[in-house]
Amino acid sequence: MSDFEIERVSTGIPGLDELIEGGFPRGDIILVAGRPGTGKSILANQFLYKGATEYHEPGVLVTLEEPPHLIRRNMMRFGMDLAALEKKGKLSIVDLSPSKEVTPVKIGEYPSFDLSGLEAIILNHVNKIKAKRVVIDTLAILAYKFRSRDILREEFFKLTASITRTGTTLLLTSEIPAQHDGLGVFDIEAFLASGVLVLYNEMISQQSRSRSIEVLKLRGSKHSSRIHSMRITDEGIRVWPAEISPGA
Ligand SMILES: Nc1ncnc2c1ncn2[C@@H]1O[C@H](COP(=O)(O)OP(=O)(O)O)[C@@H](O)[C@H]1O
Ligand SMILES: [Mg+2]
Repeated sequence: MSDFEIERVSTGIPGLDELIEGGFPRGDIILVAGRPGTGKSILANQFLYKGATEYHEPGVLVTLEEPPHLIRRNMMRFGMDLAALEKKGKLSIVDLSPSKEVTPVKIGEYPSFDLSGLEAIILNHVNKIKAKRVVIDTLAILAYKFRSRDILREEFFKLTASITRTGTTLLLTSEIPAQHDGLGVFDIEAFLASGVLVLYNEMISQQSRSRSIEVLKLRGSKHSSRIHSMRITDEGIRVWPAEISPGA
C-alpha cells in the first residue's frame, strides 16, 4: 500500500462497502443520521459486531439512549450475540443510558460542563480491550448540558479527536431535526465527521414504506451519489448497491 492510499475498514453491512470504495477510511469519524426508527442503532451495533467477529477489530459501544439489556436483546434477533463478545473481551459497553432515578435537568444547570470525564471513560475501555472501533449512540443527547453552541462544538471536537487519535474508527449516530436551519447539533456533528450516511424510511404509497441509504459525503472517497435500497432482514441490515430506491 502506498503512503497515499487510504486504508479501509469493512462496515460489516453487506452491500455498503461497494458504495464507498471498500469501507470507511480507517481512523475517521463517520456520522449515521436519520429520523427515529430508520435503523441507525442497528447499523452501528452491526458495525461493532461484525468488526469483532469477522475483522479482528474489538469495539466499544457508548450508549446514551437504550439500556444495554435491550440492545443485547434486539441484536440477538439478528443472531448477533453481544453478550458472548463481551465475555470474550471483544466488546465493551459503556452504559450512559438514562436510569429511572434521573431527575429532569433545567437549562443552565451545568455552568461548566465538559466531556473530559466521558473521554477518560471511553479511552479506558478502548485501551482495555484494544478496541479498533467505537460507536457513540447518540452524543447529541448531551447537547442540552452546554451553555453555548461554541462550547458544545469545542467539546464534541475534543472528544471525537481524542478517540480517533488512538487509531480507532468512530461512528456517531444522530437524529436529523425536522426543522433544519443549519445551526443545530446535527450540523456540528456533520461538520466534525469526514463521512455522513443518511438512512431513510419513506412512505412510497398509502400502504408501504421503503428503507434506503445515501452516502451524503465521504472525504477522500469516490462514493455513490444515489439513494440505494436497504432492508432490515433476519441477519441485520443489508444494502442493495445496484438497486436504486423507489422513493428516491
Ligand atoms: N428484527 C427485526 N426485523 C426487522 N426490522 C426490525 C427488527 N428489529 C427492529 N426493526 C426495525 O428497526 C427499527 C429500529 O431500528 P433502530 O436502529 O433502533 O432505529 P434508530 O436507532 O434509527 O431509531 C424498528 O422501528 C423496526 O422498524
Ligand atoms: Mg437509535
